[in-house]
Amino acid sequence: MSAYPSDQRRSDAGAQSPATARHGAGSGFVVVANRLPVDLQQLPDGTTRWKRSPGGLVTALEPVLRNNNGAWVGWAGVPDVDLDPIVEDGLELHPVPLTATEVSDYYEGFSNGTLWPLYHDVIVRPEYRRHWWSAYVEVNRRFAEYTAKVAAEGATVWVQDYQLQLVPKMLRMLRPDVTIGFFLHIPFPPVELFMQMPWRTEIIEGLLGSDLIGFHLPGGAQNFLYLAKRLAGQPTSRGTVGVRSKLGVVQVGFRTVRVGAFPISIASAELDEQSRRRSVRERAAQIRAELGNPKHILLGVDRLDYTKGIDIRLAALEELLREGRVDPADTVMVQLATPSRERVQSYIQMRGDIERQVGRINGEFARVGYPVVHYLHRPIPREELLAFFVVADAMLVTPLRDGMNLVAKEYVASHSGLNGALVLSEFTGAAAELRQAYLCNPHDLDSVEDAIMAALTDNPETRRRRMRALRRQVLAHDVDRWARAFLDALAQGQVAGSALLSDADLDPGR
Ligand code: ADP
Ligand code: F6P
Repeated sequence: MSAYPSDQRRSDAGAQSPATARHGAGSGFVVVANRLPVDLQQLPDGTTRWKRSPGGLVTALEPVLRNNNGAWVGWAGVPDVDLDPIVEDGLELHPVPLTATEVSDYYEGFSNGTLWPLYHDVIVRPEYRRHWWSAYVEVNRRFAEYTAKVAAEGATVWVQDYQLQLVPKMLRMLRPDVTIGFFLHIPFPPVELFMQMPWRTEIIEGLLGSDLIGFHLPGGAQNFLYLAKRLAGQPTSRGTVGVRSKLGVVQVGFRTVRVGAFPISIASAELDEQSRRRSVRERAAQIRAELGNPKHILLGVDRLDYTKGIDIRLAALEELLREGRVDPADTVMVQLATPSRERVQSYIQMRGDIERQVGRINGEFARVGYPVVHYLHRPIPREELLAFFVVADAMLVTPLRDGMNLVAKEYVASHSGLNGALVLSEFTGAAAELRQAYLCNPHDLDSVEDAIMAALTDNPETRRRRMRALRRQVLAHDVDRWARAFLDALAQGQVAGSALLSDADLDPGR
């Protein structure tokens, strides 16, 4: 499904670019995201290669962009490299350079040491450092300037995610002719948490540079609308903006900003088709054999992130083993964890904790040659990942907080045989749609353990009925539908149907 089918695919960077992006006329549809869909890797022998970037944003947006023949503005994933634009499979990639200090202050610092924990219910304490904020402003300005050069007259520009919340306002000042959409891929926090942010007004005003702002869930949109009314009308060091908000609409002076909920999804039909392929089925059977043909295979697939609750599912498994509710002779858990944000302290700490947990469980319950937990700390190629989805009897998705969680939807899309079970945290965006999953509260270990046990032991007809309902939802609501809903609303200047918020929604009851 990737425009870059092989992770090994070589592409020349910089001076050796195979093609240089068109300049002049510019592009009519531009996506702006922190990362390009591919990361540049510098190999020890001095050569380079492009590799698929981690995370759900790329999974969702790459097929959309390919269908729309657009341009993508983003960072190539390595510091201190200035690359020419390239064109691959009709997709223009425009790399934005970042220095090593900016990676440290803007990306690891403000984006992932301040915003990420603040927007994920302060699971880890956010740090508010002035020089991180300065770097965030500086880098957002650079993204806005690059985009202003790439976008054609009257283009549609779609800015993505928390790393770039100031870009809409900055871009509007540079290019008032373009239509600007913004989508947040992570949760938008409750009002009292967002109010911690020293630069809260600047962030709200940055977002209000958009014509349409999208969140996964109505609750996020509601929080934003309340904050827009409360903060953006206030005087700031740079003057006052008159802001009124109602009905999913914020009136900023003479401009109308629309706000709505657009739950993101995956290319479900494509995944469904791929998972039925004989090669995938055969590999799935081979994996089961390699694991020792256990009765139950539990699977976790995540970026190694403290929001994902990997430690929680391990703790649940450990307790189930200790209590004898799960038999180590017939149960195996596979945890596939993509390395993520590896220089951020909270991630270093969490990795150590999880690896200790895995070691402790295996130390206590494994037999020689038969670990209970198989833990792979690396990205898994797409086709292999699909085989893991297919073979898993239960998928464990236990985040403490997650904007959506595409892994849950990918698992469902891969189970045409209706023979799997999804254990899903109530604190994911996906739980709002996937009501037939085995829902659990990750803060309550009993609840996680009971959900796992039900997923493993419910009678086959109940499991099939649940999976059938989940598949109906995921196959009918795919990523194309999501993108069309957002882009149509952006083009038409309105937020339709369920995305509208009522006046009652604007009062968060505080
Ligand atoms: P996030 O955007 O926070 O990383 P999502 O669940 O929404 O979380 O999306 C993660 C994406 O990354 C999915 O497409 C998933 O298949 C992919 N992914 C996660 N872990 C791995 C892994 N270990 N190997 C390969 N792909 C992975
Ligand atoms: O939406 C979550 C997100 O932060 C995306 O912005 C990003 O593509 C993905 O997770 C991976 O994170 P990172 O780019 O920090 O590796």
